Amino acid sequence: TLKEEGTVSYSSPSNIALVKYWGKRENQIPANPSISFTLAACVTKTSVQYKKKAKKSEEFSFDLFFEGEAKEEFKPKINTFLKRIEVYLPFLKEYHFVINTSNSFPHSSGIASSASGMSALALCFMEMERTFLKNLSEEHFNRKVSFLSRLGSGSACRSIEGPLVQWGETASIEGSSNLFGIKYPYKVHEVFNNFHDTILLVDKGEKQVSSTVGHELMHGHPFAAQRFDQAHTNLEKLKSVLTDGSLDTFINIVESEALTLHAMMMTSNPYFILMKPNTLSIINAIWKFRQESNTHVCFTLDAGANVHVLYPENEKDIVFPFIKEKLVPFCQNGQYICDRIGLGAKK
Ligand code: PMV
Repeated sequence: TLKEEGTVSYSSPSNIALVKYWGKRENQIPANPSISFTLAACVTKTSVQYKKKAKKSEEFSFDLFFEGEAKEEFKPKINTFLKRIEVYLPFLKEYHFVINTSNSFPHSSGIASSASGMSALALCFMEMERTFLKNLSEEHFNRKVSFLSRLGSGSACRSIEGPLVQWGETASIEGSSNLFGIKYPYKVHEVFNNFHDTILLVDKGEKQVSSTVGHELMHGHPFAAQRFDQAHTNLEKLKSVLTDGSLDTFINIVESEALTLHAMMMTSNPYFILMKPNTLSIINAIWKFRQESNTHVCFTLDAGANVHVLYPENEKDIVFPFIKEKLVPFCQNGQYICDRIGLGAKK
């Protein structure tokens, strides 16, 4: 039976891909498999107050507040998301929602909030479903939330669990699916425990090209087929690395994936560049330091100019001072976020 009213809330993290998702088919089906570290500090907190309407209406009805302020401009995106998930959550039009959402990271920092934001919202709606259907197993719950999150933003399906989530059907990962992310099913070497991700905010401006357009441009891209094959190969290679902890190979795969993502942007038509001069300065400084220090610091990139600096816990006393001294000066207003590998969404 459906409750008349109530409130559900969740905190859901962002994630950073090691093997990148870039290119998709209808219904947010990825063109290639990907895998990510779930983050811990970059989260979206969302609460949804629901109240049953006198009569089911033709439209979705909701109010939306972002960091305490009414946000009309975010509503179309939410409306599209609701339309896509309604077949799987048929109660949505029977309720009025008051959605309150906020991010732990600075507003318009260039940190993509779609993964944490869409997954937090999907979690709230699934929690409603759970109060209606009592006997939902944890596994079924996570799977369906990931499935729904995917319909909001592809990479959001990798934010529900942690520390590593894989999405997209591929031969080397048992149970992999195009429809939802799965908690990485194999044993992971302890060197990845507590892995750090210091996010350098190089450019906080609005991106010139959205990831929706970027994915689109992989259709008819001259290197698409090779790229999609490469993602399968890299994922398979990464599988051994995650077991045996060989950080040199880890670095090679992760940095190559980041540069390949941006190479796809540069070789699409129209072509575009999301890196900034400071992105390259940071990459070069990391390479130089890595050689000199014998550490295993490396970088990865999202669809933007910011740099994610990855390093193991046992090297933090050497790497973090280097980041502060040599890399932070390349950040806009000296801004950076200390994050690390995390365990997924929380109530
Ligand atoms: O989830 P979307 O559609 O915003 O795509 C994001 C894709 C990348 O962040 C660039 C890569 C990834 O796998 O997360």
